[in-house]
Amino acid sequence: MSAIELSESLQELVDRAREGAAHAYAPYSQFRVGAAVRGASGQVYSGCNVENASYGATICAERVAIGKLVSAGETVLTAVAVWTGAGEPALPCGICRQVLAEFGKNAVVVVASPSSLRQTTLSDLFPEPFVFRP
Ligand code: THU
Repeated sequence: MSAIELSESLQELVDRAREGAAHAYAPYSQFRVGAAVRGASGQVYSGCNVENASYGATICAERVAIGKLVSAGETVLTAVAVWTGAGEPALPCGICRQVLAEFGKNAVVVVASPSSLRQTTLSDLFPEPFVFRP
């Protein structure tokens, strides 16, 4: 992962993801994650991971942020930032990639941690999402 210069708007998204991580509920993994998505309106929605004693019920930070976007009445996101407080930046998991694809197939993705930063796109990370065509 190389150090890169982010646009002002993506830097703001990373800042909001980092702020979101402050609320992470991660008593089981201790892995604190924050995410922020930018809706087509320009509005930013942040989230954090929300773990559960029944581990499989855990919700990733990205999906918490997307839930806020959708519940605010938006259905298109243009960018997502994911912040992890320790180690190397973490790319969105497979479930989050599928959920991101539903609302932001052209989204820019930035992953960041205190050690480094990477900018990519959802279409690079997840070129062929499942699409429901009954
Ligand atoms: N996690 C996220 O919040 N986003 C991801 O894309 C991957 C994983 C969280 C879920 C869990 O609380 C912790 O990281 C360890 O898997």
